[in-house]
Amino acid sequence: MSTDSIRQGGGALEDIVSLAPIGEPRRKITVASLREKKLQHQPITCLTAYDYASARLVDEASIDIVLVGDSLAMTMLGYPDTLSVTVDEMLHHTRAVRRGVKHALLVADMPYGSYHVGADDAVRNAARFMKEAGAEAVKIEGGEKRADLIRRVIDAEIPVAGHIGLTPQSVNVMGGYKVQGKSLAEIEQLMRDAVALDRAGVAFLVLEGIPREVAAMITAEVATPTVGIGAGPDCDGQVLVFHDILNLTFTPPAKFVRRYGDAAKLITDAAQSFREDVISHQYPLDNESYHLSKETQQALETVLERKRGMRR
Ligand code: KIV
Repeated sequence: MSTDSIRQGGGALEDIVSLAPIGEPRRKITVASLREKKLQHQPITCLTAYDYASARLVDEASIDIVLVGDSLAMTMLGYPDTLSVTVDEMLHHTRAVRRGVKHALLVADMPYGSYHVGADDAVRNAARFMKEAGAEAVKIEGGEKRADLIRRVIDAEIPVAGHIGLTPQSVNVMGGYKVQGKSLAEIEQLMRDAVALDRAGVAFLVLEGIPREVAAMITAEVATPTVGIGAGPDCDGQVLVFHDILNLTFTPPAKFVRRYGDAAKLITDAAQSFREDVISHQYPLDNESYHLSKETQQALETVLERKRGMRR
């Protein structure tokens, strides 16, 4: 290979780094393996990812489920909530994530409006995530009232993840992002929601923003694995948002968020150091520059000398 190759090593990240623990062959995660994990009491891990690089890193960290959440409306696109993100925007990000994920189960969120008009519409949009973006399941918010619609999507051979409790697409109905399931009536409704989705055959059930005690009851009641976010430690698994765990949200974290790194500091420090190096002429250095060969340099000198001579 030429030493002047722009991308040393050919540029394929997989040739350079693999974070998979050595000696542990990784199995492809499927809907069936999630059920198996619940039966074996093995915690299920899920993180969101929205682009190729983050998807690769999350997948190579052996996370079970990669979720292209509609939270990308805020984290990636700067919208104030999840409501305005479109199917086409979700597909665009899901395709990028698909290219980065090898082993995890790839789940895409059905955005607001893509399943609210009717079941035909829901099946058509869900099929786009499978056919056009390579998703292996879609996620739909809502409980009992969505059970028939979810059954229709599953009948079209599309695995569906449920999502109950604090469902961000219902922010206007809920009157804000509030913990759900705090009164006896709300607990009863949540139990009905969970059982209805379990009977409909969801691949797993996201429990968001509900008391630990309620999440524990649901988890004990349903056969489908529960994956909690702000729902306490008794769920079958946990999901967090990629940008939350890395301090990339520009807002104070919710109570349940644990920060595992500070990418905001890392990126700011790197950008500032780059700027300082450029304005102080410390970047690029000679050894970071391309050079002519000796022969070409000599030939160029001769040409330039001749031109200078003609001008005199
Ligand atoms: O959109 C999302 O990121 C989600 C998770 C919070 C479960 O739905």
